[in-house]
Amino acid sequence: MTQKNIILTGIKPTGQPHIGNYFGAIEPALRRSKDNENSFFFIADYHALNTISSAEELKNLTHVVAASWIASGLDPKKCHFYRQSDIPQIFELETILNATVPKGWMNKAHAYKAAVDKNRADNKDVDTDVNMGLYNYPILMASDILIFNANKVPVGKDQVQHVEITRDIAARFNSKYSKNVLTLPEYIIEKDIQEIPGLDGRKMSKSYGNVIPLYGTEEDWHASVRKIVTDSEASHTIESFKATTFYGIYHHIASDEESRVLCESIVNHSIGWKEAKEDLLNKIVKRFEEPSRVYLELLKNPNKIDQILSEGADKVRPLAEEALKLVKTSIGIS
Ligand code: TRP
Repeated sequence: MTQKNIILTGIKPTGQPHIGNYFGAIEPALRRSKDNENSFFFIADYHALNTISSAEELKNLTHVVAASWIASGLDPKKCHFYRQSDIPQIFELETILNATVPKGWMNKAHAYKAAVDKNRADNKDVDTDVNMGLYNYPILMASDILIFNANKVPVGKDQVQHVEITRDIAARFNSKYSKNVLTLPEYIIEKDIQEIPGLDGRKMSKSYGNVIPLYGTEEDWHASVRKIVTDSEASHTIESFKATTFYGIYHHIASDEESRVLCESIVNHSIGWKEAKEDLLNKIVKRFEEPSRVYLELLKNPNKIDQILSEGADKVRPLAEEALKLVKTSIGIS
């Protein structure tokens, strides 16, 4: 008998999604969950708390991110969609796991280590700006996953270590209490997804200010597309054109056939950068205009978003309660 797959992924509400997030994370995650009624998507607001200190900003970003996923096709009726902070069992499990996790494991977690290394390089005290939320981040993430017995966790490369730590935590807990209470999850990395370059050719990222917003108006997209760096090269070969930042973005939105035609037109000089950019803008508008409308409509009515998230939480809370009960029984607290 094949084991039922429980797919779970967390979305940290730290910024307005861009098309790099869409093609790199949102679209593949939604595609994967299409035929699986056991998909869990949640807004990881307590993870975002480590870096966001404005109440208004956290609330707003929670709405922005939730609306983006719904506008992208997430159907709250067909999956589990909730806000992490609405499931207190996660935090109770975290407290329990704290007693099992060796401190040394946290010292080795990438994000914490990077912060320490940077402080050291800057000749600062190693703990400068490191809060306990950052230090304990992997344990909170393990609790997110283990509370729902998820066995598949789609993540980006930077999160693989966290899923591995989750496995280690689950295994250690099970062996400590000689019971198979926690499920060891596996990470899933989408294989054929290439990173999308930003307007300046570096990785598309909010911190570089080089993004094309996912949801916006034609003017927003136009302003971004105009800024895509292009060379003044008079001639391109297929290979040299395919290596450009422009093509790196274009081929995610266009079909293979459309990409092929564009390459040819550039190489044989029937069009130049101006027309190519117009073509890209048209494709962005065509693809994202309708979802943008849904997105803006939802954001006008944040109560509706809260309601969707809270109904989602009501649906999954009993599952979390049941899992927590088992854990508590196995440690002698029940
Ligand atoms: N740490 C993830 C990120 O930064 C978000 C996240 C929180 C998550 N909890 C999770 C992802 C559980 C997968 C499973 O992107």
